[in-house]
Amino acid sequence: GELEVDVVGAVDSTNARLAAAGGPHARALLAEAQTAGRGRRGRGWQSPPGSGLYLSLAWHFESGLAGLAPLSLVVGLTVAETLRRASGADVTVKWPNDLFVEAGKLGGCLVELGGAAEGPCRAIIGIGINLFDTASMASVDQAWTALGRHGEPVGRNDLAARLLDALAAALADFDRHGFDDFLARWPAFDALADRPVRVIHGNGSEMTGTARGIDGQGRLQLETDDGRRRAIASGEVSVRVR
Ligand code: BTN
Repeated sequence: GELEVDVVGAVDSTNARLAAAGGPHARALLAEAQTAGRGRRGRGWQSPPGSGLYLSLAWHFESGLAGLAPLSLVVGLTVAETLRRASGADVTVKWPNDLFVEAGKLGGCLVELGGAAEGPCRAIIGIGINLFDTASMASVDQAWTALGRHGEPVGRNDLAARLLDALAAALADFDRHGFDDFLARWPAFDALADRPVRVIHGNGSEMTGTARGIDGQGRLQLETDDGRRRAIASGEVSVRVR
């Protein structure tokens, strides 16, 4: 079907706008800037004009919420593949869907789901990519990078169009055939593979071990220091520097 794409100036958050718009149809929103950009885990997302790509896609799934656990990895992997193809930069994914080049965060994805365990449901998929360095990015409190520093130059609108094409194909494929194809492609993009990591759970408890890829539900496989395997469904992962 047709995908309706709106391009706007400044909005609070493209995810918030699409969530408020509702409706069952696929649609996309690209903004020049956001005044209240949202990040994962309740954080904000710096979204100054002229610096980044701020894009959201509302998508309808036939499968219920129960099967959508790996969706955020499908999105992260598809975005990383598209960025590599467009720029040639060595983009990787830090589980579940942070986009990295070398040690710097290039972008992130925020997937918000609505619906029931069974039956159709709707996802708002938000993507933020740092494209250029701007003065207002100086306040970001983690190591970050911008696509403009790596590989071939890529324009924002061109990149948005490529991302929407790739995401529409990947989401339809995931809805119909599940996660297996994505699972097979994950290792070539896995920023954490065989690295020593620390996992911080929502309740603040911590685990350390070695990251050993993902499983068929998109969970991070952690090999703990005493040699046991744990499957991590959610949490904040950082690479340990020894
Ligand atoms: C992260 O915390 O890594 C995810 C950041 C996601 C930011 C994007 S920008 C477009 C969309 N609208 C939002 O408010 N957030 C996402």
